[in-house]
Parts: sequence; C-alpha cells; structure tokens
Amino acid sequence: MAERKVIAVVGATGAQGGGLARAIAADPEGGFAARAITRNVNSDAAKALAKLGVEVVAGDVDDAASLARAFEGAHGAYCVTFFWAHFSPEKELAEAGAMARAAKSSGVRHAIWSTLEDTRRWVPLADDRMPTLMGRYKVPHFDAKGEADRLFTEAGVPTTFLLTSFYWDNLIHFGMGPKPGRDGVLEFTLPTGDAKMPGIAAEDIGRCAYGIFKGGATHLGKTVGIAGEHLSGAEMAAALARELGREVRHNAVSPAQFRAMGFPGAEDLGNMYQFYRDFERDFRAARDPAVARALNPALQSFAQWLAANRDRIALS
Ligand SMILES: NC(=O)c1ccc[n+]([C@@H]2O[C@H](COP(=O)([O-])OP(=O)(O)OC[C@H]3O[C@@H](n4cnc5c(N)ncnc54)[C@H](OP(=O)(O)O)[C@@H]3O)[C@@H](O)[C@H]2O)c1
Repeated sequence: MAERKVIAVVGATGAQGGGLARAIAADPEGGFAARAITRNVNSDAAKALAKLGVEVVAGDVDDAASLARAFEGAHGAYCVTFFWAHFSPEKELAEAGAMARAAKSSGVRHAIWSTLEDTRRWVPLADDRMPTLMGRYKVPHFDAKGEADRLFTEAGVPTTFLLTSFYWDNLIHFGMGPKPGRDGVLEFTLPTGDAKMPGIAAEDIGRCAYGIFKGGATHLGKTVGIAGEHLSGAEMAAALARELGREVRHNAVSPAQFRAMGFPGAEDLGNMYQFYRDFERDFRAARDPAVARALNPALQSFAQWLAANRDRIALS
C-alpha cells in the first residue's frame, strides 16, 4: 500500500479535532493517517485515540518548537484555537499565527484553519447596534478567528478556511440544555428571534474536514462553510419536545437580555446571537448543508443528533 498522508490534528482530544481523527481512523483504506497533537499523551482522551490506531504526539500551540515538531513531515494540518479555555482573542491570534508559521516551516501542503466571520465587516466598531467588547471587537471569539485568516495567507500556507457552525453539543456541554421555567415547563433559550441558525453535530465538523483533505487541491484557497441544518429557536424547541416527549418552549430573550446574564462570555455570546439574527441571510448563505453533506455523507440532522444524545442533554 502507498504511504499514507499524515494529517497533524490540533485539538485532537477535543470536539473538532477528535471528529477528524476518528473519521481518518475509521477509513484505513482512505490513504490518510491521523497524528493527534495533545499536551498530555497520557490523558484518557489521548489513550482512546491511540487505541483506534491514531499516532499521538506531544505538542502545545503555545510552544512553537513543539508545534513545529508535531507538524514535521505531515501532508496536512488541522488548525483550531480554544477561545473558551482563556477568553482571549489576542491569544487566539497569537496561536493562529504560531500554527501558520509551523505549517509553513514544515512544508504542510494543505492546512485547514477552523475560522469564523470577522463580524466587524458587518458591524464596524462605530456601529452601536451592539457594544464594542475588549476595546476592538464586536464578537471577540469570532472576530479574532476571522482576522487570523490573513495570517495563513500571508505565511504562504495552502489553506482551506472552514466556517464552522453552532454545535448542537452545546446542549450537553455548554449549559444550553432546556431548563424548567417558573411554571416547570422546559424552556430552550435562544436569543435569535425568528431567525434560523445553522447548527451541526460537533462530530460532523471533523468528518467534513476529512472530506476537505480527501478533496485536496479543489478546496485550496477556498472558504467552505458547513452546517447540518438551519433551524429557528422555535423549531429546535419543537424537535426537543418531540424527542423528550414533554413540552419545551422557545425562550426568545433579546440579545441585550442575554448579554446582561452576567456569566463569563455572556456579552460575547449575546453579540454573536444578535449577529446571527441581524445578518441571518449572509450567515446562512455561507453554510449550505448540501455542501457539508457532499463532504460527509453521514451528516446528521438535528432530530438524528437528538435521538442519539437525548440522555446526555442537561435538563436543569
Ligand atoms: N461551541 C460551539 O458551538 C462552537 C462553534 C464553532 C466554533 N467553536 C470554536 O471551537 C473552538 C474549540 O474547539 P473544540 O470545541 O474542538 O475544542 P475542545 O473540545 O474544547 O477541545 C480542545 C482540545 O484542544 C486541546 N488544547 C487546548 N489548549 C491547547 C494548547 N495550548 N495546545 C494544544 N492543544 C490544546 C485540548 O487538548 P489537550 O488537553 O489534550 O492538550 C482539548 O482537548 C473554540 O475556539 C470555539 O470558539 C465552537
């Protein structure tokens, strides 16, 4: 068999990178091999990948030398940053720059940069429809990713820019499961009014990324947006009610009310939901589920994802 092309995967013990590492491992005849990068090769998540036959190597995106070693000899690199680990857009920019430089110096032929829109292209800082945060951002965890696109281009790295979508897994891990309202009826809070929001099973992001690596040159220099389905808050609440067999209503708070909730990141997320709502057409147009399905024929709908995960959704 011809030598397999190594894909170095940042975040391989997490959601996006994990989906990619598992997709590559599940296709041993596909011509690719995953190399999982982790800060702790002895964690349970790292060991689970090793058990699937994935090469696991030590690396930290904050340590340039370790990153260069981890990318060495790789055909491809999956590059993602971890905003919610530190809440710093400046750190995301620094980490994206470090990955771009490592990809360039190790001769990576195809990088995927997991990005999002720089919302300041739609809402300049002077626009007071939503507050400016951290001095120079509207949606910090989006804007820094979008701003970082040019770091890959300027470094001369052959790159596909992957626009991801809201993970439905946020209903499990991110405190977004429906919660009982004052009358005990479950409420699903989504401050997007009647707008439909692109969403995706987190595992499908990595599967789509694998499709992009398999497609190779056709995706270089392109921006590819993915989603499993576009749904309004009311539609998501109705799907939850069908799956859970009990009433679930959409709690349509305003973005301003969401920003005022006071938990870390609430203002950033409130602005994000306002962006989804106010720029629905552009945001959805960039994420066609048909594009995602062509890359990943196993793409899940929200109903399929709910059926597989109903017992994991936090209801309190
Ligand atoms: N939640 C959503 O709806 C959503 C939607 C679109 C985009 N995003 C974006 O997705 C990004 C996070 O991706 P994810 O959800 O796949 O992450 P995740 O599940 O939180 O996993 C992150 C993994 O990355 C590794 N990691 C963290 N810091 C690292 C470092 N300094 N060097 C090397 N590895 C490091 C950790 O692995 P080890 O501990 O093994 O090193 C961890 O397992 C965020 O920037 C977020 O904005 C989220």
